[in-house]
Amino acid sequence: MTGVSGRLRAIMSDHDPQNLLPERRIRSFVRRAGRMTPAQARAIETLGPRFVLPYASGGCSLRDAFGRDAPRVLEIGFGNGDALVAQAGRLPEVDFLGIEVHEPGVGHLLLGVEALGLTNVRVICHDAAEVIRDMLPAARFAAINIFFPDPWPKKRHHKRRLVQPALIKRLAGLQAPGGLLHLATDWMPYAEHMDEVLAASTEYQLLTDADVADEPLAWRPETRFERRGLRLGHAVRDLYFRRAGLSA
Ligand SMILES: C[S@@+](CC[C@H](N)C(=O)[O-])C[C@H]1O[C@@H](n2cnc3c(N)ncnc32)[C@H](O)[C@@H]1O
Repeated sequence: MTGVSGRLRAIMSDHDPQNLLPERRIRSFVRRAGRMTPAQARAIETLGPRFVLPYASGGCSLRDAFGRDAPRVLEIGFGNGDALVAQAGRLPEVDFLGIEVHEPGVGHLLLGVEALGLTNVRVICHDAAEVIRDMLPAARFAAINIFFPDPWPKKRHHKRRLVQPALIKRLAGLQAPGGLLHLATDWMPYAEHMDEVLAASTEYQLLTDADVADEPLAWRPETRFERRGLRLGHAVRDLYFRRAGLSA
């Protein structure tokens, strides 16, 4: 384990769960080697202690992490974090939590946080499935975003897709009625899969673009993977859902 990576891992984890979990879980990602630039490494070194929350199997207090109680948005798989940083810059009264396993992406996001002087962003560099299961059971998010998750196009890999009934059920547990779930993809078979998974959920109701036209939390900028999809001639679909049920 080399310098920066080792230090990020020390910030990231209170232990290495891969050594403790005997079962081989199906993961929605493959750890890419991806080169860390010196600027990203410096950002992790200097800003990591403030903005990166360690994975904690026993749960965490987002109130303590952000130092306030504000509406919160969760983004899963933020990639290089540009969308999250742009949203956080537009909505300083909202707190943004991002989860991403790709370490250079975390470094890139921290550079954006620094450039805009943001205080309303925190990130966790760990498998989102475990973070949601172990760390966030008591959390409530006004919006949850999953933008351009890995499409896993081959049939034998479909089980690796992030959007699955079990994950959607867990996400529903993190939202009060009225909460927004925003998915986006440039892979139409995945959009159909998302439609099917969410149609089978009793916890979310499909919204139209018009339903969310005036919702600040529904806005997103173009993302890096979206630009790649557009260059390849892909169409893009945004899917919006509302957490159903009676408000308390
Ligand atoms: C195709 S990229 C999209 C990145 C970004 N949302 C965008 O639109 O540019 C998907 C990202 O999700 C991350 N990812 C996939 N599964 C994850 C998981 N279980 N936990 C955390 N991050 C995950 C990957 O590392 C990757 O950066």
